[in-house]
Formats: sequence, structure tokens, C-alpha cells
Amino acid sequence: MSAARFVDRARAALRGRVAVPGDKSIAHRAVMFNAAGEGEALVRGLPSGHDVASTMSAMRALGATVEPVSPGAVRIRGRAMRFEPSPGTIDCENSGTTMRLLTGLLAGQEGLVATLVGDASLSRRPMKRVAAPLIALGAHIDTTDGHAPIVIHGSRLKAAPVVLAVASAQLKSAVLLAGLRADGLTDVTEPIATRDHTEKLLLAMGVAVRSSGARCSVRGPAVPACVDVAVPGDPSSAAFLLVAAALVGGSDVTLEGVCLNPTRLGFLEVLRRMGADIDCRVEEEVGGEPVGTIRCRASGLGPFEIGAAEVPAAIDELPLLAVAAAFAEGDSVISGAGELRVKESDRIATTCALLRAFGVEVEEKDDGMIVRGGRPRGGGAVATHGDHRIAMAAAVAALAAGPGGVTLDDAAAVDVSFPEFFSTLARLGA
Ligand code: S3P
Repeated sequence: MSAARFVDRARAALRGRVAVPGDKSIAHRAVMFNAAGEGEALVRGLPSGHDVASTMSAMRALGATVEPVSPGAVRIRGRAMRFEPSPGTIDCENSGTTMRLLTGLLAGQEGLVATLVGDASLSRRPMKRVAAPLIALGAHIDTTDGHAPIVIHGSRLKAAPVVLAVASAQLKSAVLLAGLRADGLTDVTEPIATRDHTEKLLLAMGVAVRSSGARCSVRGPAVPACVDVAVPGDPSSAAFLLVAAALVGGSDVTLEGVCLNPTRLGFLEVLRRMGADIDCRVEEEVGGEPVGTIRCRASGLGPFEIGAAEVPAAIDELPLLAVAAAFAEGDSVISGAGELRVKESDRIATTCALLRAFGVEVEEKDDGMIVRGGRPRGGGAVATHGDHRIAMAAAVAALAAGPGGVTLDDAAAVDVSFPEFFSTLARLGA
């Protein structure tokens, strides 16, 4: 359900210590891999957003038991890699991670027939990129014109080296999951290394995964052993609060229990280059993932440049970094980020439109944008296109922009990853 919302400029500094919801990428994997694994596990710290709920219902449709035990915690009984062979149609809703990882996981179960569908946004996103490498391993997968619905006829797979054309953790993960059923070594090479949560979790589940740089492999056949997971906080959700703190004068915000996996922290690196006052401390390791605290205090920001090599580690934060750029005097350049065009919305187009709603001058490029920073003004309206990260980036801009506030046409979009976004900002004083 869409709901318009007015976000006013912050009248006071943002201050306090808060936790952010569990990491969406790790949560999808903790639910999916345990539901595929052998045994039972308790997964805690799950975010309440819609995306991970899509993965939970998909795994139930495939015969796994996923039982809520308390808020954010589920007990999972796994299928030992033998899913219900006729699950029918599985709705992945808005979640690309659910759809692409499931395609890899199911491709090699002989006799299984499943159809994966999604909402209007997911049905526009490219799926040939996941089908093609799996077909090269012997999978039978039909996509409609390269898009969902995806029909999977499980078949025997053969292990082989796979070279991916796009740097995408979803594709890498799909191939590794397919490799669990193939005899021998399935080896994946990416153009640039992406987030490595799949490798870390499979390793913790006793699977022989090796990785080095932008290359990783799995030896099949293998059945992962269920393992308890405490999902750490999502750095991609944390990013919105940190940038809000950097921009609203006098702010001092500390976020606890955040996943500090370096493959996710490209945005922190960029913020530091902009002159942000950030202190980041790893405090423990949970299930192979570094976890700790990030503190950000308001400071003046300068412009930045980011290119292809750094994009994968900051991919989900680029609309937000473009918002930060709008407040930094000078030209900021984002390039090598064509992947933004195939996210939940065309995030190059939707980010440029967002910035223009604040009177910011921005030049749209095929693979990025140039943002001319200055003093964004309030008083406008932003179309979120149902995209959670566009909605949150616009709200952050509104907090720091000139008077007049901003109206978001569909603020409920945040429910995909961070339903508590507005209440958390309120707790910090916004
Ligand atoms: C994700 C990988 C990225 C990211 C998405 C989550 C994952 O997508 O944008 O939000 O959990 O593997 P791509 O693999 O399409 O780059």
C-alpha cells in the first residue's frame, strides 16, 4: 500500500546510539541455506522488511520448516537439498536476491519443476544473466524474454569454470549454489570481487569453498550442515543514518552491531574522502563476519569521484552518496555504475530526478552522473518509484535541505528493507 509522507528539515542535531535492522543480504542467505541444509538451526536478528519475508515464504513453499520463535528469530528445519518437487509458483515479490539465488539452488534438483515470479519492478529486471551461466552447467531454465517468470526444470548439472560478465554477488551466489549439486569443482570468476556472504556462510556450514580475490569455487556434491546465525546490523541501512548525521549540523550518531564486512563498506571509504568525521571499530566476529560500531559526527563535506573498481562495494549506497554530493560544494562524479539502471528502479534516472526535486543541478550519464553540489532547497516532491533506497535517500536530503520539507509519494517503500527507518530517525531527534 502506498502512503505519501511529508519529511521536514531537521530542527535540531541528530544524536544518540541505535541499532539498525539485520543485514538483508546475510539474512536471505541464513534463511535459504539453512532451509536447504541438513539439520536444524536458529536464525536471530532477522530484519522485518518484506524482502527477507519473501525468502522465508519461498523456502516454506519448498517444504522447509521456518517457524517464528520470537521477533526477528526463526527455527529452521532444513531439507538436506531435497526440496518439494512441485512447489508450483513461488512469488519472490520485490526481491532480486530471492529470485536469483533460488534459481541457482533449484536448477540441479532432478525432477523438480518450479516457476518464480515477482512484482512489476522485479519482472522488469534482467534474468538472462543468471540463467545463462547455469545453462552452461547443464540447467534447463526458461525466462520470458530474459525476465521473470523463470521456469526451472531441475536437471543434472556438470561442474565447470564460469566467467561472469557482470560483477554481481547474486549471480556468483547462484552459480555456487548450483555447484553444490554438480560433481567436482565449480569455479566462478567475477570482473570485480563482490560481497562474499555466500562464501562465508557456506564455509561455516562445512562446504568446501575456496576464494581468492575475484575468484571462488565450491566442490560438489555437498549438503550444507545447518548452523545457527546471529545476523548483524545492515551497513546499507546504517548508511542512511550516517549520512543524515554527517549533513545535519551538530549531529553525533553511533550505530551498534553493524556488519563491517569490507566488501560492503565502499560508502564509508567515499564518505571519508569527502571529509566526513567517521570512526569505525570492529568489536567481534560473528559467523565469519566482522561486526562493530560506526560513529559519525557532522562535518563539512567536499566532492568525490567514484569509478568502476569501487562500485560493487558501494552499489546500494550510490543514490545516497549522490545526495551527500549535493551538499558538497563542487562537482562529484559517479561513473562505471551502469548496474544502477537495473536495480529496484533505474537508480540513475530516479536519483537524478530526486536531486532535481531539491533544485540540484545534475548531469545524467549512461553509467552514472555528475552532481554539482551546493545548497539543496526544500519545498518539492519526490517520486520514489516504489524503491526503498530512493525513498530513504530523499528523506535524508529533506532533513538537511533548505526550508519547506519534501513530500514522498510512497514512503511505505522503505518497508522492503528498513520499516523502522522513520521511527529510528525520530529517536535520534529528527
Ligand atoms: C545483493 C547483491 C547486489 C545488491 C543487492 C543485494 C546480494 O545485487 O545490489 O541489494 O545480497 O547478493 P547484484 O548482485 O545484482 O549486484
